[in-house]
Amino acid sequence: MHADRIRHAALRDKVMSADEAALLIHHGMTVGMSGFTRAGDCKAVPFALAERARRHPDEPLQITLMTGASLGHDADKVLSDAGVTARRMPFQVDNSLRQRINAGEVMFIDQHLSETVELLRNRQLAPVDVAVIEATCITEDGHIVPTTSVGNSASFAILARQVIVEINLSMPLELQGLHDIYIPSYRPHRQPIPLVDVAQRIGSPAIPIDPEKIAAIVFTDRPDSPSTVLPPDAETAAIADHLIDFLMREVRANRLTPALQPLQAGIGSIANAVLHGLVDSPFDDLRMYSEVLQDSSIELLDEGRLSFASASSMTLSSACYARVLNHLDRYRNRLMLRPQEISNHPEVVRRLGLIAINTALECDIYGNVNSTHVAGTHMMNGIGGSGDFARNAHLSVFVTKSLAKRGAISSIVPMVTHVDHTEHDVDVIVTEHGLADLRGLAPRERARVVVDQCVDPLYRDLLKDYLRDANRRGGHTPHVLEEAFAWHTRLRETGSMLPADVFMRDLSEA
Ligand code: COA
Repeated sequence: MHADRIRHAALRDKVMSADEAALLIHHGMTVGMSGFTRAGDCKAVPFALAERARRHPDEPLQITLMTGASLGHDADKVLSDAGVTARRMPFQVDNSLRQRINAGEVMFIDQHLSETVELLRNRQLAPVDVAVIEATCITEDGHIVPTTSVGNSASFAILARQVIVEINLSMPLELQGLHDIYIPSYRPHRQPIPLVDVAQRIGSPAIPIDPEKIAAIVFTDRPDSPSTVLPPDAETAAIADHLIDFLMREVRANRLTPALQPLQAGIGSIANAVLHGLVDSPFDDLRMYSEVLQDSSIELLDEGRLSFASASSMTLSSACYARVLNHLDRYRNRLMLRPQEISNHPEVVRRLGLIAINTALECDIYGNVNSTHVAGTHMMNGIGGSGDFARNAHLSVFVTKSLAKRGAISSIVPMVTHVDHTEHDVDVIVTEHGLADLRGLAPRERARVVVDQCVDPLYRDLLKDYLRDANRRGGHTPHVLEEAFAWHTRLRETGSMLPADVFMRDLSEA
């Protein structure tokens, strides 16, 4: 019966199969599931739900699905392929779901990750009917100890009418003590969040709920899906070098100490590579206050460069995952997992003065950033936490490779086709070619620096021509409006942002 996993004896008769637990979920419900960037997701009930929909095609079964962020084990694919996901928020990374979102079949609400539970708490979203939360164990008090992520799990469980707990036996009991669950009080009488140090514990080690709400307990033993980030390559290594040189200059100018400010790094291969670059940097006693810890964060902890890492989830490769979970004693005093509304809280981000490093899909010459929409219309993943951090950070850095799709796309364009982060929220843009420090610059100055430092030579003359023509037209932020999206139009029509003559010249030189 795993009494050590269900220590509140009265709950032991709630154990059932995933199929039975999934019957608690009905058509039209809002379901809040654990899971943040593949970590700590539920691994049984979503699949039982999809199977039920497949087996009974005549029974309507569509839900609003909320999570912390993305799910592992293709859960988003399985649920959307089965037609169960009607509405989805606040983030996803699944290719199949992405296609349904872009076909208008699934309504996707792309949200700042710190905001979802605030909207729920204040009844600005439909309430959560059922929360499905992966757990390491249930304590003597009936409280839930999460696994490798906290995400939105705590507020989902607290606000839901009913809770299904998935106890994952592959998660070591030593995870207990790693979490810090702090839930802000209701407005308008809320007190400041009392977090003034990255390593500070301000909440409880488990999710405090009324055990009466736990309607089902399911056992699983599947590990988290491993992270899919690619190892650093020449371009991401060059991006890391430019950023490290810049930070060293900040230290020499006495604007930062060698311990820098707490670091936040976004998801994906580029951000992971940038952090990896810090392993051989001169910085020491670094701290992270981020939402996701990737392999590079664990590497920095192992190398002793990082003294503490606070986040909302750990999304690791299989090897790194085993290293951490089998040796939690090594990390216990240097790791903490918090609810995403705290890891990403604008008040805390501003107070701690983070260096926020996030990835752009495309940036424009004035520093506006598009993180989400391919060619202005098609959703990639979502804004995630990048907006929570970018607006409030001490330094807001956006990184991107200068080219995508083998040069058919320039990531630096005259005007971004969708704006997630405005020029007002962006301090620094880095590509493999160089770094544009935009602080204190007016738009015309910004454009010169971005074109000189960040654009690939393939597109540099084109962008210079655009800027010259725009400046002739005048304005505080000069543009040739009828040309501003010409590169994107050309991409749609010809498959490349390059004009045919440049493309042919490039091919013949190759
Ligand atoms: N137009 C179209 N596609 C582009 C593009 C552009 N301007 N720039 C990059 N891409 C494509 C790449 O070709 C690649 O496609 P593929 O998967 O078919 O190979 C894909 O986008 C990912 O790009 P990559 O260069 O590998 O970077 P990444 O893995 O670091 O991801 C983002 C980049 C922007 C998609 C990702 O960081 C993201 O979703 N960010 C938003 C959320 C966020 O910032 N969260 C931060 C807090 S966690």
